[in-house]
Amino acid sequence: MKFFIDTANLAQIKEAHDLGVLDGVTTNPSLMAKEGIKGEAAIIKHYEDICEIVDGDVSAEVFSTDFQSIIEEGKKLAAIHPNIVVKVPMIKDGVKAIKWFTDNGIRTNCTLVFSAGQAILAAKAGAAYVSPFIGRIDDTNWDGVELIAQIAQIYSLQGYKTEILAASIRSALHIVKCAEAGADVCTCPLDSILGLLKHPLTDIGLAKFLEDAKKM
Ligand code: E4P
Repeated sequence: MKFFIDTANLAQIKEAHDLGVLDGVTTNPSLMAKEGIKGEAAIIKHYEDICEIVDGDVSAEVFSTDFQSIIEEGKKLAAIHPNIVVKVPMIKDGVKAIKWFTDNGIRTNCTLVFSAGQAILAAKAGAAYVSPFIGRIDDTNWDGVELIAQIAQIYSLQGYKTEILAASIRSALHIVKCAEAGADVCTCPLDSILGLLKHPLTDIGLAKFLEDAKKM
């Protein structure tokens, strides 16, 4: 399973990259706004900066919702860097746009996916990635990880090539469960990635080894 970091914060992207386990980045308009990125020039510069840190796929989301505008916006984003993947919402014009991008050699990440039916549509349109939102599904008292398992089974049976990108991750446990369920990629906040490091027995064991090392 690949690890992407789910942020537009350059310091956090650098920290995850320096850990040596980072395969890519996902952003969305909320994450970009949180970093104070405003206006086309600033958006382009920010994606350039991200692509300089990470040698892997970087999802850049369109704000448009009608077919023609999604295409124009997506073309501009894709031109920033070969690693840019155009993130398109799961709406009717979005699916049409994903098909257009696929036919024209531009890779896409279909976002805001909450059902297996939506994931089938994204795969049929040729999306490189489909992003089911695990945490937001959990918030509605359904099991987000179950959706990952269902999509993984369907994609495997049908031979779809779209990669399952588990999104809206809230914990280290989510990452483990998504790996078990067959996600190809997990996009995670830095805290969830660092959470994988933690185990109290590791801390206790290390303290003892360091204490005993003084006797050597
Ligand atoms: C990433 O692709 C998604 O936009 C993101 O994971 C959504 O996460 P959230 O539900 O924590 O906002």
